[in-house]
Amino acid sequence: MSKIIPTGAVLGADITEIDLHSRDASDTVLAALHHHLVVRIRGADIDDLAFTRFASRFGQLEGSPAFSRSRPNYIPDAPLITVVSNVKENGVPIGEHGDGELNWHTDLGFMETPSGYTFLLARQVPPTGGDTRFCNMYNAYEQLDASTKQAIATLRIKHQKSHTAQGIPRPGFKDISTIDPRELPGPLHPIVRTHPHTGRQALYLGRRFGAYIPGLSLEDSERLLDGLWARCGGEGNTWAQKWQVGDMIIWDNRATMHRREQFVGAGLRRMHRLTTLGEKPT
Ligand SMILES: [Fe+2]
Repeated sequence: MSKIIPTGAVLGADITEIDLHSRDASDTVLAALHHHLVVRIRGADIDDLAFTRFASRFGQLEGSPAFSRSRPNYIPDAPLITVVSNVKENGVPIGEHGDGELNWHTDLGFMETPSGYTFLLARQVPPTGGDTRFCNMYNAYEQLDASTKQAIATLRIKHQKSHTAQGIPRPGFKDISTIDPRELPGPLHPIVRTHPHTGRQALYLGRRFGAYIPGLSLEDSERLLDGLWARCGGEGNTWAQKWQVGDMIIWDNRATMHRREQFVGAGLRRMHRLTTLGEKPT
């Protein structure tokens, strides 16, 4: 019988004694996810095919978009997996995102249909650094004052897709030289979204770099976004995952954001990632 052990922080829970090959494992994880937003399973001893099979029970799996990846395929036998790593073979990176800091974001918010759940499985971790920190976007919304809630109720954010969360241009958008948020391409999503399964409302901010609220002046958009962002990653609204080999972390992109601390020079890190297609935020 599996056990669910909350982290004691504002989100996150460990699930222990779970058989990832069993039919009802996904029901247990899904129920915990909707309650705790982030789930950790330590010692997940599964190969890439079993990992893919497990994640596919949570929705339609999707590979990352071509413009956000450096190669068409990372693992021939499990083509939906993205490798997130600073490892190089013959001088060529085997995956994405190197060893630098990755700013707060939610996965594929810059697509019309963003990610639902993300699964990250640690195959290799450095002795220090590279922690992944999560924040609770239900709380970030609920703690806003009434006038701010009213002000943002019908507003949307343009989630630019031409740059990373660090502001680095993506390969497929080389022609875009501006960083004026009003000019950058990307879909519009509501600032407040309603979770399709829990019915709860959450702030949905995507990435800070290049974000813009149509209908406002750039100055007003920046001021409002800065105010909303200040709510998210502050003290008391986050929890950090310190990785061990075999950790599988699953998070709900509809109600959380995440960031990675840099681990430059700390060692090699290799993660295997899967994501499910979510729904258009409403
Ligand atoms: Fe991410």
